Amino acid sequence: MKDLRIERVEIFLTQPHDERCRLAVVRVRTSEPGLDGLGCATFTQRHRAVQAALEHHLGPLVTGRDPRAIEDLWQGMMVGGYWRNGPVLNNAISGIDMALWDIKGKLAGMPCYELWGGKSRPGATAYCHANGRTPEDVARSARRLMEQGYRHVRCQLGGYSGLKGEDLRPPGGAPGAYYDPQEKLRRIPDLFEYLRAELGDEVELLYDVHERLAPCDAVKLAKALEPYRLFFLEDVVAPEDMQWLRMLRGQTAVPIAMGELFNNPQEMTPFIAERLFDFIRVHVSQIGGITPALKLAHLCDAFGIRTAWHGPGDVSPVGMAANVHLDVALHNFGIQEWAERSEAEQEMFPGRPEVREGTVYPNGRCGLGIDFDADMAKEFPCHDREPGWTEARLPDGGMGRP
Ligand code: CO
Repeated sequence: MKDLRIERVEIFLTQPHDERCRLAVVRVRTSEPGLDGLGCATFTQRHRAVQAALEHHLGPLVTGRDPRAIEDLWQGMMVGGYWRNGPVLNNAISGIDMALWDIKGKLAGMPCYELWGGKSRPGATAYCHANGRTPEDVARSARRLMEQGYRHVRCQLGGYSGLKGEDLRPPGGAPGAYYDPQEKLRRIPDLFEYLRAELGDEVELLYDVHERLAPCDAVKLAKALEPYRLFFLEDVVAPEDMQWLRMLRGQTAVPIAMGELFNNPQEMTPFIAERLFDFIRVHVSQIGGITPALKLAHLCDAFGIRTAWHGPGDVSPVGMAANVHLDVALHNFGIQEWAERSEAEQEMFPGRPEVREGTVYPNGRCGLGIDFDADMAKEFPCHDREPGWTEARLPDGGMGRP
């Protein structure tokens, strides 16, 4: 196959599951009939911008090139615009990068995890989300997951907006997803005391702060949660406040997961080298795909940091397949976030990784092992409304962090 070329790059936007989860799937077609690859470019809040970046810039840039030169194409896509990095561009790059790895596996006649050193484990341990408006509801939701075999559960009280939501909106305040940071500080330690007593010692519990506390309060919360032996505490500070992790590390041994909002591995490198967190949690398409994720994971390995790739409903099943191939191959895999999908979404993506008893397994097929029904995707078009939950507001009416 001397003259293999990229013939066409296509992007599909679809929303088969949840109106908060607009998915972007990229297909790279090659000059070899039947040889193509799939990638995830899902930036659910700015999906049209990613579409434009692919259709107008990156697609034309790689068309006609040899799809086997993944590293070279990745570098070209990253610096080709001179100004580089950022969520729109990185997601667009990821769509192509993942598809190229999918093609590489198909050419080699191997699943992608074989290309990266083979399996370190048969499957990836996963965690799901238990939500509720009372500690009793959260415990019920967690028990249901434990009955399905999950041994790790993320437990949240009150969803995105906390418990009071709109009730907190002050007179004259703009609409938004209102939350009270102090409510977390007051109620979350009690929640975990209750959950430990109700659910026992065997289950691993996780909590996501969603960067919604002032840094000093985040340190306080981490200390208050220490007795309940969390598996990890996620996004305890905002990426802008990473320096505060030094103070937190000095005061508590609660394992810290960071990085969902990072774009560029260079943003995290100094904190990795200082071992200021325990789990790297990037959204793989957000940093530019599999090529940078492999490098980042190996860097983290050198510093004893494990992976916990972002994996809620706003990662497409193609992106989840990429996560799971990385999970089973990487020595320093930690855990995989996992979300149940609608029947329509499962049907649209045949071959997606399967979960059994709280562990996710790739299917052993070549490349990423996943397909995509583009005709069916047309029946589930995306709406273009703003997501709403990201307009997070504090009780005084000012903007907070989502
Ligand atoms: Co999170």
